[in-house]
Amino acid sequence: MREGPIDSAETVRSRIEGGLHDPSSFRAALLSIRPAEREAWLDRVLGLGELPDDGPELPRGCVPYLPCSIDALLRVVEAGHVCAADVFVDVGSGAGRTAALVHLLTGADVIGIEIQPGLVLAARDLVTRLLLSRVTCIEGDATKLTGSLNAGSVFFLYCPFSGDRLAKVVSDLEPIARTRMIRLCCVGLGPLACPWLTLEAAPSGDVAIYRSTLHDEAIG
Ligand SMILES: C[S@@+](CC[C@H](N)C(=O)[O-])C[C@H]1O[C@@H](n2cnc3c(N)ncnc32)[C@H](O)[C@@H]1O
Repeated sequence: MREGPIDSAETVRSRIEGGLHDPSSFRAALLSIRPAEREAWLDRVLGLGELPDDGPELPRGCVPYLPCSIDALLRVVEAGHVCAADVFVDVGSGAGRTAALVHLLTGADVIGIEIQPGLVLAARDLVTRLLLSRVTCIEGDATKLTGSLNAGSVFFLYCPFSGDRLAKVVSDLEPIARTRMIRLCCVGLGPLACPWLTLEAAPSGDVAIYRSTLHDEAIG
């Protein structure tokens, strides 16, 4: 916890709206808040109200919208070494809270993929209000679209689905992983059994970070 006055949520929000998107200042402001109060603080900074309802477009077997906790995302950013040079893909991005937070913490470009049109609208409203020009949200089925996001360097999955859908997304990332190293950051998912992914470190709680090895093999 830092010493000295703590910026209010409104102060941070007005700075963001004024275009002052400085990851280290934003991170310092977030970390100055007690952990138990961070979720409510972030909602105030981002101007978020009640959780939006899920719509009928959510396919059976896919997971409804629930934003990832700040605690888990701080561990993802740290253990996944997410930085401004990354393109962070949120697979199943909901109303954009995680996309906005990861961008504000790291400066990374963020692309969200979300199947529920109402949540896509909410995410686009958020990025417009906060002038987050490097955060975009694509509407569609992540099981079909993720493998086409060649620019992605970090793929984030907060349990949008499991089973065959998850296996397809991982398999569709293989061609990208052949061209360069990518990371998969998972929250709340079981172990990923994939021969070209290696765990970066022992999982911390519900967070697991994997790194692709295909590119190492190609250049080794
Ligand atoms: C547990 S929430 C995670 C939300 C977001 N990643 C976050 O951390 O705030 C899962 C999200 O995945 C979305 N989803 C589920 N299946 C999907 C699919 N096939 N394609 C795209 N989005 C999907 C849901 O609509 C929901 O918003």
